[in-house]
Amino acid sequence: MGNNLEVIVAKTAGFCFGVERAVNQVYEQVEKGIKPIYTLGPIIHNEEVVRDLGSKGVKVITPEQIPDIHEGTVIIRSHGVGRQIYEQLNRQGIHVVDATCPFVKKIHRIVEEQNRAGRRIIIIGDSAHPEVEGIRGWADSGTLTAKTEEEIDSFVLKKDEKLCLVAQTTFNYKKFKYLVEKFSKKGYDIIVFNSICSATEERQKEAEDIAAHVDAMIVIGSRTSSNTRKLYEICKLQCSNTHFIQTLDDLQPEGENSVQSVGITAGASTPKNIIEEVQSNVRTKF
Ligand code: F3S
Repeated sequence: MGNNLEVIVAKTAGFCFGVERAVNQVYEQVEKGIKPIYTLGPIIHNEEVVRDLGSKGVKVITPEQIPDIHEGTVIIRSHGVGRQIYEQLNRQGIHVVDATCPFVKKIHRIVEEQNRAGRRIIIIGDSAHPEVEGIRGWADSGTLTAKTEEEIDSFVLKKDEKLCLVAQTTFNYKKFKYLVEKFSKKGYDIIVFNSICSATEERQKEAEDIAAHVDAMIVIGSRTSSNTRKLYEICKLQCSNTHFIQTLDDLQPEGENSVQSVGITAGASTPKNIIEEVQSNVRTKF
């Protein structure tokens, strides 16, 4: 078996900075032991983590349920929320722990300032995504959202309007650049803030580099996670011997005695303990 196996774990595997920080903040509240504790929406798209927190008494609520809450702590997740939600929670005297990712918080500040200075806000992103809903909640009702060229073309704007463009943090950079260029040609007075977060891109880049240099590659994450699937596709192009697994048990390499090096990466919602378990036991599998 592979005692001499070289194992390389991607530094960017798993939770990004903002999600890790948010999950830690929930566990910190659990440790303080002051109940009840709520998270506004699931803290992360990982059922196992949400279930574990549930077993420790953390309840997931929707914004519609806020009026029914009169005590305890509400934790705002990394996606962030609009100003109204903070106001509502404050009015009800609820203790708020704000785990909004600082990168998202920065967008809120920009949007609020620029909107106050008279610019209409245009968000490049998915209008139904909670992060975008949150960003919208820091500007007035004239705010527009688009993710395609057709949507941008359908905007009815006055020629002399002043605009401010921001992006959903996980939006594809190339697409953003393309849309900004198209929009800039329309002749408005535009300020553009590239608010795309590099975490996803860095994770993909590192996975690609590792996959290109190993005999086998392991990608850990849920089958339903689109960012994990993307990681798998990127790795597979560099290393045909790429395994997509959810947990250690799924790893069943067959007769691969020639494997001398293995790389490991994981999707954005894969907890550290699962990555560590695979890392510690991978030598028994090859
Ligand atoms: Fe994560 Fe914050 Fe970037 S939540 S993807 S580090 S914007």
